[in-house]
Formats: sequence, C-alpha cells, structure tokens
Amino acid sequence: MSSTPRLESKLPDVGTTIFTIMSQMAADHKAINLSQGYPDYDGPAALTERLAWYTTHGHNQYAPLAGIAPLRAAVAAKVERFYAHGIDADTQVTVTPGATEAIFCAVHAVVRPGDEVIMFDPVYDCYDPAVRLAGGVPVHLILAAPAYRIDWQAVRSAITPRTRMIMVNSPHNPSGSVLDEDDLEALLEIAEQHDLIVIADEVYEHLVFDGQPHWSVLRKPRLAARSYAIFSFGKTFHVTGWKTGYCVAPPVLMTEFKRVHQFVAFVTATPLQYALADFMTHHPEHLEQLPTFYQRKRDLFLAAMAGSGFRMTPSAGTFFQLAEYSAVSTLDDMRMVEWLTKEVGVAAIPMSVFYQSPPAQRYVRFCFCKEDDTLRAAAAKLCELG
Ligand SMILES: Cc1ncc(COP(=O)(O)O)c(C=O)c1O
Repeated sequence: MSSTPRLESKLPDVGTTIFTIMSQMAADHKAINLSQGYPDYDGPAALTERLAWYTTHGHNQYAPLAGIAPLRAAVAAKVERFYAHGIDADTQVTVTPGATEAIFCAVHAVVRPGDEVIMFDPVYDCYDPAVRLAGGVPVHLILAAPAYRIDWQAVRSAITPRTRMIMVNSPHNPSGSVLDEDDLEALLEIAEQHDLIVIADEVYEHLVFDGQPHWSVLRKPRLAARSYAIFSFGKTFHVTGWKTGYCVAPPVLMTEFKRVHQFVAFVTATPLQYALADFMTHHPEHLEQLPTFYQRKRDLFLAAMAGSGFRMTPSAGTFFQLAEYSAVSTLDDMRMVEWLTKEVGVAAIPMSVFYQSPPAQRYVRFCFCKEDDTLRAAAAKLCELG
C-alpha cells in the first residue's frame, strides 16, 4: 500500500493565480508592478488610526455573524444615499472577508449540481471555480473587444431549463467597461422571465469616470429583489489587504447566504469592521472624491503613454486600463507580459487568462492605482518600445 492518499483534484485545471505569479515575477526582477490590482499607497490615515485604536481597546473577539451593527448601518445609509434604495441593515447586509468570500457564498447558497450559471469572458477568476465546486456548470459567453459589452440576445439564446444564475461585473475587471441602464433593463427582463438569480459584482462601484453614474442593480427595485450585490471595502478604501467586503440582498436570499457564510468564514475580523464603520460615518467625502481621484490617475497614465505604440481606449471604470500591443510586439500575451516584466521592467496581466477560450488578440491589462511617479516611470519605459 502506498502511503500517499488518493486525491482527485476538484479543480485540476486551476493553478496559482496569474496575479500572484506576476507580482512575484515583478518582485524577482525589480519591475514596476502594474499587474495585480492593489495600490502602492496606503489607506487614509484616519482609517488606519481607528484600526490601531480598536485593536488596543478591547475589540478583538468574534463579531456577530452578519457583521457589527454600526458598519451594517453605515452600509445601509450608503446604499440609500447612492442608489436611493432603502434596505434593512439587520436582514439585508452581511459583512464578509472580502468580495471573494461573498461571491463564493452567494454561488453556494443557490447553485445545485447541474445548474447552469451564465458568466461573461473575460471573467474574474473566482467565478468559474466557485460554480464548479458547487456542482454547477459555468456557461461562458463573450464580451467582444473593444467595447466589452454584453450581447443580451446571446444571453437569451444561452438560457436553458437548467439556467439558474447570471453573474455580472460592473465596472468590469479587466476591461473597464460599465453596464448602463439599458443593460439593467435587459438583465431584469431575462432574470424575471426565467426566474434567475443575479450576482452583481460591484466592487469598483465608486470608480466610474467621465461623469457617468454607476448603474448598480440596487437602483432597480425589481432587480435588487433577485440579486446578491457584492462590494469590497478593500477597493474603496485603498486597503485590499484588509480583505473585507459585504453583500446586500433581499432577506429571502440573504438567509440562505448566511447559512453558507457561517460555515465558510463565520465572521469577519472585528477591529477592521469598527474602523471602517467610524471612517464611513465621519468621512463621507471619501466616496465622493474617489471617481475624480482615479480618473486623474487614468488620465495621467494615458497621457504618459500617448507616445507609446500601445493602443488604449480610455477605461470607463475600475482602476485597470487595457492596452492593445500589436504595433509593439508579435508575442502572445503570456510571453509578452513575461518579456515586459523581465526585459522592460513593467509587469502587466495577460488578457487571455480571463477567458475559457482566449480569442486571437493582443491585449494586456495595466493597473493604475499607483503613485503618480510609479505611473510616469512605467509609461517612460513602455514608451521606449516605440
Ligand atoms: C471583479 C472583482 N471581484 C472581486 C474581487 C475580490 O475582492 P476582495 O479583495 O474584496 O475579495 C476583485 C479583486 O480584484 C475583483 O477585481
């Protein structure tokens, strides 16, 4: 008998995420890291100071399952303020260890073996594995370049009696596209007609540019009534390493969500929640300033890249910018990011990793949630390529 236990992988095709790989490669080669989506600046001092205070003043034990009441109240007030959607902070909000855990719990609350879940490529990497681990069948539809918009006719054609859920992401990582009101109307019509549940990944809700509003599913009461809307404090407050987020859903969906959440994470770190509640209450201006803050960075990066051979359509949202590089290189995108990191000194993410079947195109994703000097230095290197 071998001493090695038999173990068939449930996710045999899944390796280390490209985000980890590229950040490591950037560190190894001392490249400027425009790959993984995290800032190279800190969260607001008024926020990190509150965390220090709470950890040293006895707020270090388990929080309630759904999150501490002041944070849920701050979330409910924010949802009312931005989306004119009144929610009950006790039954419709759960604070989670990041949006990733919320997505996992929402999928597992709903999806049963054989259920089909529609998602759109390029797709954020945790959706497909979450569905498969639940026994579901991911159905990948395509967002066509360069606009990366949902083809709602294709969605209608993909619906079968087994379709149970649609996962949307707006503002969209990696393309930077956003859903508009017409998209929400189409989503609502299809979801109601086929009794589907929606996961709306809105972690970049406050990063929408050029004066456009963010079309949250929470703006449409009938859509909100069948949606898990998922958000990330990490993205919004420049503290991705805090891994805190939340889910907003109607009570009937939230009850099932909590049944899963209590056995996946149970609760979210207590002092982080108190710090976030204080900061949200005392600094509402932070959220108002975010679109301008990031739009300026996007525009700085685009201006600095204007002399390069990369072709860029301004990102409408998120802190990501796609770049088409066929005028610069004939390498495929995996080799391109390796070359950029090792030889040019700038790390990026290859677009093909976001696809089940990558199309023949040459795009990389740059992240612009970086100090201005970091963006300028990266652009200078990339411009040297001609
Ligand atoms: C589209 C999208 N969804 C979810 C997440 C995960 O957010 P969190 O770090 O809060 O788990 C990310 C992080 O990059 C993301 O880009």
